[in-house]
Amino acid sequence: MPHNEPTPPDPPPLDPSDLHPTDLDPTDLDPTWAIDTALVHLGRPAREPGQPLNVPIEAVSTYHAGGEVEYARDGTRGSQALESALAGLEGGHALAFASGMAAASALLDTVDTGGIVVAPRHAYTGVAVRARKLDQLGRVSLRTVDISDTDEVAAAADGASMIWIESPTNPMMEVADIAAIATIGKANRATVVCDNTFATPMAQRPLELGADVVLHSATKMIGGHSDLLAGVLVFADSDAAASMLPQRTLLGGFPGALECFLALRGLRTLALRWRHAQNSTQILAERLAQHPAISRVRYPGLPDDPGYFRAQRTMAGPGTVLAVEFTGGPGAARSLSDRVRLWVHATSLGGVESLLERRRRWALESELVPEDLVRMSVGIEDVEDLWADLSAALERV
Ligand SMILES: Cc1ncc(COP(=O)(O)O)c(C=O)c1O
Repeated sequence: MPHNEPTPPDPPPLDPSDLHPTDLDPTDLDPTWAIDTALVHLGRPAREPGQPLNVPIEAVSTYHAGGEVEYARDGTRGSQALESALAGLEGGHALAFASGMAAASALLDTVDTGGIVVAPRHAYTGVAVRARKLDQLGRVSLRTVDISDTDEVAAAADGASMIWIESPTNPMMEVADIAAIATIGKANRATVVCDNTFATPMAQRPLELGADVVLHSATKMIGGHSDLLAGVLVFADSDAAASMLPQRTLLGGFPGALECFLALRGLRTLALRWRHAQNSTQILAERLAQHPAISRVRYPGLPDDPGYFRAQRTMAGPGTVLAVEFTGGPGAARSLSDRVRLWVHATSLGGVESLLERRRRWALESELVPEDLVRMSVGIEDVEDLWADLSAALERV
C-alpha cells in the first residue's frame, strides 16, 4: 500500500564549503546542524563586539567613491546577506534580484539567439508567457514538454541550450525527476535550471541533484509574509554566478534594501512555517479528496496523485500548495472565492495567510489549466479553522 511507503528523508545536511566567501557568515557552517539552525544563523554580520545581529537596512543608492561598493545596483550589504543565506541553503553561489521574474528573465537572457529552451508546458504563467514571447521574437526557440515525463524531456533536449524545470509545477502540481533531467542536460550540454519556489530547500536541493541553477521567487515561502517582492538565483558554478553579476547590474532588476531585509527575516522562520503549513495541507488535501463538491485534488502528498511516488523518493515533503477541481465545474470554482470568510481570495502563495484563486481568471494562464482549477496556498492558521471555513463554503458552491 502506498501508505506504507517509507517516510520521506530529512533534508540533506549542509556543507560549509557551500557558503559564499563573505564576512557575513559568522561561523563556519557546522555540517551537523539541521536546516532549522542554518536558517536562523546564515547571513548575519561577523560576531564581533558592537556588530549588529542583523544587517541593517541601508537606505542608500550611492557610496563615497573609491570603496568596495560604489553604487547600490552592483550589490549591497543587504543583498549579500540574503545571498549568503541562500547560497548556504541551496549549496551554491547566490545572486538576489528584484523579483522571481527579474531572476527568470535574467536567466533566459543568457540563452544565445536562436538557442533551444525546453520548458514545462505548465510553468508559472509569467515564465511561460515570457518564454513564449522570446520565441515569437526569434530570440529563442521554445519546446514545451510535460516536465514530469522524463522521456519526453529527453526527446526534446537534443541540441537544447537550456532545460527549465519547475517542480512541483504551478499550478498543476506535477513533479519532475530533477536528477534524471540533470543527467539529460549534461549529455546535451544544456544549462539545467530548476525553479524551487514551491519545494524550497526544506524539501529538495536541486543543485545536489545535478541542476546548474536554482531559481526562487523569494516573494513566496522564503519571505513568507506576502509583504515583499524578491528573487534569487543560486548557481552551482562560481564562474557562472560571476558572469551573471554584471548582467544583473545592467538589466537593473536589483532588490531594494527593505526587501532584502524582509526576505532574510522571513527566512529565519521558514522551517516552522513550512512544517506547520505542510501538515495542514496534507490534512486538507485528504479531506478535500473525500468531499462531494471536489472532483480532483492535485497534491503529491496523496497516494493516488501521479507525482506521489516520485515525491516520496526525491522530496522531503510534498509542500504547502495544492489545487482542486470541482464536480460543479467552473461555476462552482468561481463561487468559492465569494463564499470563504477566512481564506483570502488573492493571487500568490507561500505567505502565513491561506490564499486561494481560480487560476484561469488570468487571461494569460495556459489553456491547458482546467477552467475550474483553484490553487490553494495553505498558511499557518489553525487547520480546523481553515477546514471549517472551506467546508462551509463548499456546501454552498
Ligand atoms: C513558481 C514561480 N516562479 C516564479 C514566480 C515569479 O516570482 P515573482 O512574482 O517574485 O516575480 C512565481 C510567482 O508566482 C512562481 O509561482
